[in-house]
Amino acid sequence: MDFSVTQIENTIYVLEKRLGLPGYEYDFQKHFACNHPLYYNGEIMAIGRIGATNDYPKRYNDFLDYNIRLIHSPEEYLKTSFLPHWYPIIEKYTPRSIWYDTFPSLSEIEKHFDFPIFIKGERQTNRHARNKSIINNPKELEELKIIWANDPILHWQKIVVREFISLQLVVPDNGIAMPKAIEFRTFWWKNQCVSIGNYWTAEKYQISESDQAAMLQIAQKTANLIDTSFLVIDMAKTQNGDWIVIELNDGQEAGYAGNNPFMLWTNVLNIENKNG
Ligand SMILES: Nc1ncnc2c1ncn2[C@@H]1O[C@H](COP(=O)(O)OP(=O)(O)O)[C@@H](O)[C@H]1O
Ligand SMILES: [Mg+2]
Repeated sequence: MDFSVTQIENTIYVLEKRLGLPGYEYDFQKHFACNHPLYYNGEIMAIGRIGATNDYPKRYNDFLDYNIRLIHSPEEYLKTSFLPHWYPIIEKYTPRSIWYDTFPSLSEIEKHFDFPIFIKGERQTNRHARNKSIINNPKELEELKIIWANDPILHWQKIVVREFISLQLVVPDNGIAMPKAIEFRTFWWKNQCVSIGNYWTAEKYQISESDQAAMLQIAQKTANLIDTSFLVIDMAKTQNGDWIVIELNDGQEAGYAGNNPFMLWTNVLNIENKNG
């Protein structure tokens, strides 16, 4: 039993595990009243903060044996975490994308896209490795095909090809790492925004209030369409000045990035207490 359940301020239940991931874990004991609930006698619903899983249905079912129901059903998890599930729901707010079970040929890609293209797995890139994501020409595509087959993070995922969008950068592109754009990670609890933070944490950047309102308008529409308990929406600003959704994540699995977890959880508690 390598997990613990904590009730925060007599309100929400959080399921945790020591992972040693500083950008992901939060010590609730520091700022909130915490207790360990009795649940052997009746089911509780808990927010998982136990890292990412390749098999959410198994995780969901395993915890049911302990009388713990994770906040997202396996079906809800699909639309927070896998592009082929969330893309059709929010298509108009995110770069055009097509996905494949096996690595697509050049001619297949050229039917739908011009270079450069952005390639990632249905869930994620390999830790933002630029040469595995931004593909400028047919030669790089050929190289990626070989890399993909042997890559531990990528090989088991469906291959997603996305239109490459020029984003507004926060630091000049060094040509080696992923270009860092004006991007924000936003957290949504029951379709209400509970936190906004910079996506890149080593750089300082901020936007005007009206720009933030424009960003939140798109993110709010996205949240309403996905309609789950705990959603993360990563937003980026394009060179045209528009806001687009880069990706979605399950709030249970996402790192905080530049968000302030104390403010985030305070806002979640306020919503829950209002719903009483
Ligand atoms: N279609 C795209 N066009 C241009 N840049 C993109 C595109 N998609 C993602 N990016 C950039 O690449 C970064 C990583 O992509 P992302 O989809 O968030 O991968 P991961 O799931 O691994 O975090 C984003 O933060 C963004 O800066
Ligand atoms: Mg990302």
